[in-house]
Amino acid sequence: MSLPVAAPVLFFDSGVGGLSILAPARALLPHMPVVYAADRAGYPYGTKTEAEIAARVPALLGRLVERFRPRIAVIACNTASTIALSAVRAALDIPVVGTVPAIKPAALSSKTRVIGVLGTEATVRQPYVDRLAAEHGADCIVLRHGSADLVALAEAKLRGQPVDPAIARDALAGLLDQPGGDRMDTVVLACTHFPLVEQELRAASPRPLNFLHGGEGIARRIAYLNADAPWPEEPQPGIAVFTRMDPDVAALKPALRQFGLVQSRSL
Ligand code: DGL
Repeated sequence: MSLPVAAPVLFFDSGVGGLSILAPARALLPHMPVVYAADRAGYPYGTKTEAEIAARVPALLGRLVERFRPRIAVIACNTASTIALSAVRAALDIPVVGTVPAIKPAALSSKTRVIGVLGTEATVRQPYVDRLAAEHGADCIVLRHGSADLVALAEAKLRGQPVDPAIARDALAGLLDQPGGDRMDTVVLACTHFPLVEQELRAASPRPLNFLHGGEGIARRIAYLNADAPWPEEPQPGIAVFTRMDPDVAALKPALRQFGLVQSRSL
C-alpha cells in the first residue's frame, strides 16, 4: 500500500530534547512533514525505572501512530531507546529509528582513548550502553555520568529562562573528576536534551573537548528508509503534540517555531 504524501515522520521524546534530532533531519529533508510528540505527562524519563519506561513508551507510541499515521517513527530519546527500542519495534508496523549513545564515532575519533558518556541516570546504567562500549570502545576507558539537572537546564533554556552555568560545570565535572577523566578528549551527548545546551557545556569546559551526538546519522537513516516514497513538493508546517498541556507549553512556543513547529495540540 502506498503512503499518502502528507504522511509525517513522528519524532518522540519526553520533552524538548528531540528537537536536537529534528533539527539535522529538517536540514537534510526540508519538505519532510513532522509531528513532534513530547510526553510532558511522563517527563522526566531519566529518573524513572526501567519498568516505568517499558510500560509507558510502547503504548504511547502505539497511540501516536494510530492517531497520526506516520511513515517512520523516530524515538528521539536515548533513555526510551536504550530501554524500550525493541519493544516499540515489536509493537509498531512502521520503521522505527532509535537514538542511542554515539559511542562508535567517539571511539573512532578519540586520541586519548578516554571517552565520556553524559546522559540521563537511566541511560548511563543500561546494558545497551555496556554493549556499545564493549563493541566499539573495547580499548577505551568509557566514563559515564547521569545528570537530571542538565535536562532541566535545556528545558528552561528553550522556555527562554536564564541558564545557570554551574549546572553545565557540575555535569562535566561528573566525568572529569572520575579516574582517567583528566585524559578525556571526547564527550558523547547521550541525552537528546544535551546538544541544546552544548554551547553552555563548551563554555563550562576547563579545556577544549570534542562533543558528539548522533543527530546527523539519524537524519541520514530517515532519508534512507524513505528513499522510495516521495516527500511533499513544499515545506510543511510542523505539529507539536503534548501528552499534557500546561503553562510551560505557551513559553516553549517561540522555540518550537524555530524548529518549524507552528501548531501545538494535546494528544
Ligand atoms: N531526552 C531524553 C534522553 O535522550 C530524556 C530526558 C528526560 O526526560 O530525562 O534521554
